[in-house]
Amino acid sequence: MKSLIITKLGGSAITNKHIPFFAKKDVLKNVARDISILMEQYKFIIVHGGGSYGHFIVKKNKLKKKGYANPLVISEINQAMLTLSNIISATFLEKGIPLFTLHTPSILSLEGKKLKMHLRPIEYALNSNLMPMLSGNIVLDKEKNRYAIISGDVIMKLLAKILKPKLAIFGLNVDGLIDPKSGKVIRQIKWQETLKFTNLIMKTQAPDITGGMKFKLLQAAKIAQLGIEVRIGNITKERGLYNLVAGKGIFTKIT
Ligand SMILES: Nc1ncnc2c1ncn2[C@@H]1O[C@H](COP(=O)(O)OP(=O)(O)OP(=O)(O)O)[C@@H](O)[C@H]1O
Ligand SMILES: [Mg+2]
Repeated sequence: MKSLIITKLGGSAITNKHIPFFAKKDVLKNVARDISILMEQYKFIIVHGGGSYGHFIVKKNKLKKKGYANPLVISEINQAMLTLSNIISATFLEKGIPLFTLHTPSILSLEGKKLKMHLRPIEYALNSNLMPMLSGNIVLDKEKNRYAIISGDVIMKLLAKILKPKLAIFGLNVDGLIDPKSGKVIRQIKWQETLKFTNLIMKTQAPDITGGMKFKLLQAAKIAQLGIEVRIGNITKERGLYNLVAGKGIFTKIT
């Protein structure tokens, strides 16, 4: 039986977060090539972030992380995220990867604070040798017009909790968590000490409605707490994702 790896393609890596609707096709091609090799050995679930698609629309409409929104805005966010999902799936398919986009607002729903995940489509896709892909997106609440933006980082945590993968990988445009004083990557963190590292987060210009690096670290800590190793590293480099899975090169490991 192949072990399962959950991988987030961070919006910082696969898009240029400073330019609206800019997907980095070269990065996607590299990532797809790595996965096409790795899938001989592992099963994958892919999660992707909003990058300059989702975050851009949310920022333009001054939307909060949760609340009430105009249906046209909700529709626009969903559309933007599906556009990015389609670019990814087309690139993966070209490399022979049977990517199967699952639509986040159809798999997740909210009842106030309770986030519900419909797991069967994910399990059935895996059973059928498809590679399920979810993304951060808007999720609807039982209450009329209420929404929440659920980040890819949270979806990673939900998947880890339920499916207990062998590894959880967060792919970014940086080599890991960087100590701003030394400029070096912090190579290893114990989940219990993650909180202390969140004060290393630098202010960035890139829009990120879902809490950026700090929130990512907190989700990563929750995954590591389950006994699942988390690796945060750069997937914009040649063989970046391959090396992360192989444990080669520089990255931040959270255990
Ligand atoms: N100490 C730090 N170490 C590493 N990156 C940091 C640090 N502080 C801030 N950052 C920023 O955090 C960014 C990653 O978080 P961000 O949420 O923008 O990306 P992402 O999760 O890949 O994108 P998306 O939310 O669209 O999926 C990096 O691109 C970097 O600029
Ligand atoms: Mg983010």
